[in-house]
Amino acid sequence: MKKVDVVLGLQWGDEGKGKVVDVLTPNYQVIARFQGGPNAGHSLHFEGKKYVLHTIPSGIFRPGTLNIIGNGVVIDPVILAEEIKKLEADGVDVQGKLQISKKAHLILPTHRIIDAASEASKGAGKIGSTLKGIGPTYMDKTGRNGLRVGDILSDHFTERYESLKAKHVEQLKAYDFEYDIAPYEKEWFAGIETLKRFSIIESEHEINRFIHEGKAILAEGAQGSMLDIDFGTYPFVTSSSTLCAGVCTGLGVAPNRIGDVFGIFKAYCTRVGSGPFPTELFDEDGEKMRRIGMEFGATTGRPRRCGWLDMVALKYAVMMNGVTQLIMMKADVLNDFPTLKVAVAYQVNGQQTTELPFETNDSIVPVYREFKGWQCDINDIRTYDEFPAELKTYIEFIEQETGVPVKIVSVGPDREATVLR
Ligand code: GDP
Ligand code: IMO
Ligand code: MG
Repeated sequence: MKKVDVVLGLQWGDEGKGKVVDVLTPNYQVIARFQGGPNAGHSLHFEGKKYVLHTIPSGIFRPGTLNIIGNGVVIDPVILAEEIKKLEADGVDVQGKLQISKKAHLILPTHRIIDAASEASKGAGKIGSTLKGIGPTYMDKTGRNGLRVGDILSDHFTERYESLKAKHVEQLKAYDFEYDIAPYEKEWFAGIETLKRFSIIESEHEINRFIHEGKAILAEGAQGSMLDIDFGTYPFVTSSSTLCAGVCTGLGVAPNRIGDVFGIFKAYCTRVGSGPFPTELFDEDGEKMRRIGMEFGATTGRPRRCGWLDMVALKYAVMMNGVTQLIMMKADVLNDFPTLKVAVAYQVNGQQTTELPFETNDSIVPVYREFKGWQCDINDIRTYDEFPAELKTYIEFIEQETGVPVKIVSVGPDREATVLR
C-alpha cells in the first residue's frame, strides 16, 4: 500500500505550486486537485513556453500521468472548457488524462454574480475575491443546495439548475446590483456539454483502489495555508480547507494514508487581495520584489502585495499541515538585496509573541532578524553546494526554526531552474 503525498502552499497562495507539481510529476502516476477552483492560477514554464492552469491539475503535461479533479474542488464549466480547449490546441491529450469527480460542485453563473454583488456591497471591507463565485458555491455546498458534476447526467438537471438559479435571483434582490445572466449562461451550458466528454467518476473509490495497488499519487493544493477557511486570516480567506486536512475530505483519503507533505513557500511573502499581511513592504524593497518576481496575479492580473518572509506564519503553517519537507521558491528574486529581513516574532499590544494571534490586524509589529544578502546571480546554479554561503545561511536558519529540511530550492520559473538536495 502506498501513501498519498501532498503539495500545498504555506503562505497566501501563489507560492509556485504549479511549477513544483510539474517538477515532481515524473515520480507520480496520479495527480489530484483536492480543493479550490478557478480562483487558482498555477503557472508552469518549460521548453520556452508558459501555461497557466486554473482547474486542471499541473500533471497534465507529462505523458502517462492521470489527472483527477477531486470532489473538494468547485468547477466552473466555462473556465474548465476554455482550459481544455487551449491545452488541446497545444496538442495535449486532455481527454485521455483527465477525470472528474461526480461529487465536485458546480459554480453557476449566478454564483459569480452573487460573489460580485457581495463584494461590491462590502465597499472598503471587501475580501478582494477573484470573483469566480467560489464563496457562494461553497456556501451552497455546505447549505446543501449545490449542484454536483454527477447531476449533469440526470434527466432533471435543467430543472434543478433553474430551481437553484431562481433561489439566487431571489437572493440578489437584497443587493443593489445590475447583472445579465444570459450571455454567461449560454457558455455555461456549452461547458456542461464539454464536461460530458470526460470520464466522470467516483474518484474516492478510484483513488483508494490506486492506494491499494501501490500507485504513486500526489495531491495538489490550491491557494495557501493562510487563506484556509478555518486557520487563515479570517475573514480575508477563501472558502475551502487549503490545509493538508483538505486532502482527506477533498479526495476521500483517510488521514493514515497521507504520506509526505511538501510545504511550499516563497523566500519572501506575497498576498493578493485584502487582509492582514504583517511583513508587507510599502517601500522600494517591496516594489523591487514585485518587479523582479513579476508579482502579478496569474488569475486576475492584480499586482501582488510583497513583503519579507514571515516565520511566525510559516511555522504556524508547518505545524497545521504536518509538513515533512520544505520547498523554497523564488530565491533568485532576492539576488540583488544587500540585506534580507525575516520576521521571527510579532509585537502585539506591547507583548512579543511567536504565535499567530487571533486578530492578525494592523496592530502587529514584526520583530525582524536581518541576514546578509548573497548579491549574486543564482539563476544558473543547479547544485546546493554551489550556492553562496549567505543563501545557505538563510536556508539553514529556516530549517532550524521550522525543524523541517528544505529539500528543493527553486531559482527560476522554468522546470529546469530547480535545485534538489
Ligand atoms: P501557484 O499558484 O502556487 O502555482 O503560483 P503562481 O503560478 O500563481 O505564481 C508563481 C509565479 O512565480 C509564476 O509566475 C511562476 O512562473 C513563478 N515562479 C515559480 N518559481 C519561481 C522561481 O523560483 N523563481 C522565479 N523568478 N519565478 C518563479
Ligand atoms: P493559487 O492556487 C492567491 C485570494 C483572493 C482573495 C481571497 C478570496 O493560485 O495560489 P476567492 O476568489 O477564493 O473568494 O478569494 O483569496 N486567493 C488567492 N490568492 N492565490 C490563489 O490561488 C488564490 N485564490 C484565492 O485574492 O484575497
Ligand atoms: Mg497562483
